[in-house]
Amino acid sequence: MQITVIGCGYVGLVTATCFAEMGNRVSCVDTSTQRINALQRGEAPIFEPGIEALITTNLRAGRLAFSTDTAGACSRAEVIFIAVGTPSAADGSADISQIVAVASELGRTLDQPAIVVCKSTAPVGTACRVQSVLDHQCQRRQVAWQHRVVSNPEFLKEGAAIDDFMRPDRVVLGTDDADAERVMRALYEPFVRNHDRILCMSRRAAEMTKYAANTFLATRISFINEIASLCEQLGVDVEEVRKGIGSDQRIGHHFIYAGCGYGGSCFPKDIRAMLQMAAQYDMPMPILHSVEARNQQQKTWPLRMLKRELGNLHGRTLAIWGLAFKPGTDDIRDAPSLVLLDALLAGGSSVQAFDPAASDNIAQRYPEAVKEGQLKLLQDPYAALNNADALVLLTEWKQFRQPDFHLVAQRLRTPLVIDGRNQYDPQTMASLGLRHVGVGRQVAPPAAPVLREVV
Ligand SMILES: NC(=O)c1ccc[n+]([C@@H]2O[C@H](COP(=O)([O-])OP(=O)(O)OC[C@H]3O[C@@H](n4cnc5c(N)ncnc54)[C@H](O)[C@@H]3O)[C@@H](O)[C@H]2O)c1
Repeated sequence: MQITVIGCGYVGLVTATCFAEMGNRVSCVDTSTQRINALQRGEAPIFEPGIEALITTNLRAGRLAFSTDTAGACSRAEVIFIAVGTPSAADGSADISQIVAVASELGRTLDQPAIVVCKSTAPVGTACRVQSVLDHQCQRRQVAWQHRVVSNPEFLKEGAAIDDFMRPDRVVLGTDDADAERVMRALYEPFVRNHDRILCMSRRAAEMTKYAANTFLATRISFINEIASLCEQLGVDVEEVRKGIGSDQRIGHHFIYAGCGYGGSCFPKDIRAMLQMAAQYDMPMPILHSVEARNQQQKTWPLRMLKRELGNLHGRTLAIWGLAFKPGTDDIRDAPSLVLLDALLAGGSSVQAFDPAASDNIAQRYPEAVKEGQLKLLQDPYAALNNADALVLLTEWKQFRQPDFHLVAQRLRTPLVIDGRNQYDPQTMASLGLRHVGVGRQVAPPAAPVLREVV
């Protein structure tokens, strides 16, 4: 099939390369010339395991092409995916202006009918809006045909995106057009050969499904973080509780790991967008408000622990392992590391940090601190520890799971490890002379509860 993907970010690139890998001819478009030039050389502008190999193979095979010319790239496409950004607007709502701009350009330039697929995460009603923009342009140009718009939200996880796309749990198709459904089913068939994992529904339900999925996962994380906070007060180890509840099949083990909060380009923005959708109908959403508030609070957990353990942080040197919002990506959007770095740098601490992929993005965000040497981004995790007053683990990259703890103890000035992802065993750490502070894992005898006077 002849496909065009508009937007060469995390979602667009993965979509384009995976469809090309299945034998389709795919053109991929972006407005960034720098990004397109790099891609034409076979260089991935993002860090995503496996993506560069897929780009190179499919470029060489002639199945994949990159361009900045939307009209040219779409001229023969049967299916056009829109995978541009939908960032938060100032009020928290999803800004769909990039989608509308693409739809408008397609309406003005397409000379044949196409199936236009909204892959970006966008509020309920966006696919209908894209349909009206396209219809309006067709009427203006007095053409006889109509484009068909499908909502096909993406559920990939950064860091495992290729695998997720190649073996999806499900493919959601929002359309009531039988022909568009047939074409989309055919396109996805190679990815779902074992089982029929294609769910067809209305466009609005498909859009809502994406938001409901992300906000539910965020809710699980904030829930366990709240339980972890209470565990800290009660002298209970939340890891024991996690295993205790996760073994219940109705609950399961996914997304119930206590930590220093979720970040990334999706959960925070999608919760804000959902709240704004509800606000338009004057509908309160107390659960989602609390999920968001708990997460904001949780992101301050590493700083609160550092202050509790070390007192005044001014003039201290802190080591950080992990800056990306999660392992396997260079993405730092809304990452917990930003909350900690903002506070430490503003408060006069020095930071020595290591991340396998996200250092360049952090350097771009804090150019002054890097220039002045207040923030050092190192190539070696152990070099970050030299003379530091504590190590703070923020991202659970695999290489941090079993570090050389003897070296950690040797290099740190103060043997303190703030474990923001509960990666380490408190007993092992204690046996090595390291003070370990985990999320919801302070199993010291409980403090007396605050008793209220009974009248
Ligand atoms: N990143 C994820 O893990 C993920 C997962 C599922 C869904 N999503 C959703 O998918 C969408 C895209 O996310 P992303 O992370 O890939 O975004 P991104 O910011 O990484 O990429 C968007 C790309 O679109 C390009 N672009 C913008 N306007 C354009 C135009 N008019 N023509 C051509 N290119 C244009 C930008 O230059 C950029 O390269 C968002 O709605 C997001 O919420 C993201």
